[in-house]
Parts: sequence; C-alpha cells; structure tokens
Amino acid sequence: MKKKILIISGGISKERLISLDTGLQVAKELKKNLYNVKTSEPNSNLEKTIKKFKPDVIFNALHGQFGEDGYIQTILEMFKIPYTHSGVIPSAIAMDKEISKKLFIKYKINTPKFFTYKFDKKNSQLIKAINSKLKFPVIIKPINEGSSVNVFICNRKNIFKILNSLKNYKKVMIEEFIGGREIQVAILGNRKLGAIELKPKRKFYDYEAKYNTNAKTQHIIKIDLPKNKLDEVLNIAQKVHKIIGCEGVTRSDFKYFNGKFYLLEINTQPGMTKLSLVPEIAAHHGMSFIELIEWILNDATTQR
Ligand SMILES: Nc1ncnc2c1ncn2[C@@H]1O[C@H](COP(=O)(O)OP(=O)(O)O)[C@@H](O)[C@H]1O
Ligand SMILES: [Mg+2]
Repeated sequence: MKKKILIISGGISKERLISLDTGLQVAKELKKNLYNVKTSEPNSNLEKTIKKFKPDVIFNALHGQFGEDGYIQTILEMFKIPYTHSGVIPSAIAMDKEISKKLFIKYKINTPKFFTYKFDKKNSQLIKAINSKLKFPVIIKPINEGSSVNVFICNRKNIFKILNSLKNYKKVMIEEFIGGREIQVAILGNRKLGAIELKPKRKFYDYEAKYNTNAKTQHIIKIDLPKNKLDEVLNIAQKVHKIIGCEGVTRSDFKYFNGKFYLLEINTQPGMTKLSLVPEIAAHHGMSFIELIEWILNDATTQR
C-alpha cells in the first residue's frame, strides 16, 4: 500500500497563492503515482482532518508567515505524525532575516551589510546612517516575508515613500545593494544537489520575475562559473543548512559580485511550482519530480 499523504497548503501569508500552487503540483504528482492524497488548509479544521484521514506523512507546502516560520511546525509536533522540511527552531531562525544574518556573520559567511529600522528615527538621521554604513542605493525588505514580497531597491528620492508603504511591519531591514549575478543553491539533507543562475529581465528578481512567465526570467542551469567557485557556493549553502539545523530540502539565495558570494537568505520551504528552482535543479541532476517528492517524504520525521 502506498502511503497516505496529507498536503497542507494555502494559509494566510502573502505567499498564499504560491503555496496553493506548490500544494497542487505536489498533489498532482503524488496522485499520478497512486498515493492516497488529501489537501487541507491550515485552519481550525486541520486537527479534525488529521484525525479522520490519519496520514502517514504530512507534506508541508506552506510558504511564508505561519507556515515556514515554526508556527505550524509547533502545531504539527503535537500530532506525532512525520511532517516534511525543517522543524520548529530552524524554521523560525531561517525565516527571520535579522537573526539568520547575525548567525551568517558569526560563522563568517559573507552577507550584505545591513541594519534594521523601526520607523523611530528622524528622516535626516536615517539618511545619515545609510550614508555612513551602507550608501545608496539600498535594498529595503521585511524581516520575515518571502517571494520578494515588499522588497524594494531604494534611492535617496524614493526611500521615504517606500518606507511609508511598509509601516505595517514593526521593523524592516535596510541592506547594502549588491549588483552582479543571482545564484541559488539547493541542499537535500547531506547532499549538495546543485545550483541555478537567474537572469531577470526586470530590475531584480522580484515577485513578477519569479512567478510570471511573461517576465521572461532566464533560468541558467549550466552556470558559467569556474569549478572552484561553484564548489565554493555549494559549500556555503551546505554550511548554512547545517549551522541552522535545517532538515530535508533548503534553497539558499546568493548574489555574486566581483568574485564574492553574498548570502541573502536560506529558505526552509522552497517552492515546488512549475517555475520553481529546486525541482529544476533536481531534474538537471537526474532526479525526477516524483523522486524529489518521495525523497522529501521519506526524510520527514518527528524526531527533531
Ligand atoms: N542586498 C541585496 N542586493 C541586491 N539584490 C537584493 C538584495 N537583497 C535582495 N535582493 C533581491 O531581492 C530578491 C529577494 O530577496 P531575498 O532576500 O531573497 O528575500 P525573499 O525572502 O523575498 O526571497 C533577491 O533574490 C534579489 O534579487
Ligand atoms: Mg529569496
């Protein structure tokens, strides 16, 4: 008998639609391979659904807040049913860009310079701080979103307008802008699965560039980098996966500029949509979509 799989997708984060798509693609593939599959939202009926369906494994297809940040993982721990991807603490750390960047720095992993801003300074003080610590342009982004939601490139002219639009966040991250190339690396447990380069036609790899085929972001699976540089970035991704204590699959996002890699973040619930990068990297290394999903399911555990 094939395993019973409950897929949790949707949720209330700004990445809801991406999560529904991830859930749909995983469900389709599992059904094609004769698994008994059910999909659920992480809502108040979840407990009932789990108790009735009695899944062997829960596939967490959520992205963003309450799905990728340790909240749902805490709830899933209570059911003592294996669930996929990282556990409570690594999920929480990886989702918090401020805490995870402090860890990158502690472990000497190069990351763009930054500070956090709580909407508490006078405009002139903020400009002074940027000029002395970072210089314009800067990147402004939320501490705990994904999919490039509310990530902006800011210059001296538009910064306050953009900050004003982000006031619902308690604080935001202001980061040095790194030009150059965009490279992402997939880690599968102990295995350095591979990397991919993205060449967005847009100003940066924003939400449209990620999910709209009309935005025509180029995916380059055979990255033009010397072997030692490719090894270097794979090793950094593996190191950060281990330091944070991640499990299953992760995807680390880098910029590559002037011969140096800058780690932007590590994702503990990378997307599995048709345009997603981990399945593309896997396919290039001879692992089909179903093989990737089955690997993730087999790796799921409650022993965290
Ligand atoms: N410091 C930076 N310099 C240049 N581009 C950046 C920087 N930070 C983010 N970006 C751009 O924004 C995208 C999303 O940023 P990231 O930190 O990965 O957040 P998210 O969790 O939303 O994916 C990156 O893939 C990159 O294109
Ligand atoms: Mg990213």
